[in-house]
Amino acid sequence: MTFEADIERVLFSENEIRARIDQLAGELTRAYADRDFTVVSVLKGSCVFVADLIRRIPIPLELAFVAASSYRDGTQPEALDVIFPSGNEIQGRDVLLVDDILDTGRTLKRLRYEIIERGAREVKTCVFLDKPARRAVPLQADFRGFDVEDLFVVGYGLDFAGRYRNLPYVGALRESVFQAAGDRRGAAPRA
Ligand code: IMP
Ligand code: MG
Repeated sequence: MTFEADIERVLFSENEIRARIDQLAGELTRAYADRDFTVVSVLKGSCVFVADLIRRIPIPLELAFVAASSYRDGTQPEALDVIFPSGNEIQGRDVLLVDDILDTGRTLKRLRYEIIERGAREVKTCVFLDKPARRAVPLQADFRGFDVEDLFVVGYGLDFAGRYRNLPYVGALRESVFQAAGDRRGAAPRA
């Protein structure tokens, strides 16, 4: 048994996600009306979210990508590998940094800082999911889809060990899947 059978329960269905993204896109459209801005999507996790989101924002915008993967091996502090967009995609721009989930906050804090260093005029953050219980650094998203309890979730772009990103809904993964993977769930790259 794999894949859909690995999901303990559905947290946000396709319909719920669609309805919430409509609202969020409305908020963003109002916030960025009459401004030239760049959506910077954090790969890989936010690719599904950003594709749905930008198609509901009917005003001019540009799209850029940043890749960030963190690795936790249980002993070392987390390391973050980052690949940035070219400077001219960032310099002088109003940036909306979009990620799949705000967990400890370390990834967005670092990316926000680095994008400002690269000359962005303003950086705001937008996350599909927010797990406030896990926050390790003080960071709040300017825009967010849903709050989620402290569970490991997959689907709609979010992965476990590289899989489940293509599920069209968000679900909690069964405990047995972590155990089968011999995990420490954080040992897998999380991007
Ligand atoms: P941070 O802890 O806020 O730096 O989050 C880093 C990254 O961890 C996120 O962008 C996700 O890729 C990943 N992540 C955190 N929580 C989950 C989860 O529940 N499921 C899948 N990925 C997660
Ligand atoms: Mg990610």
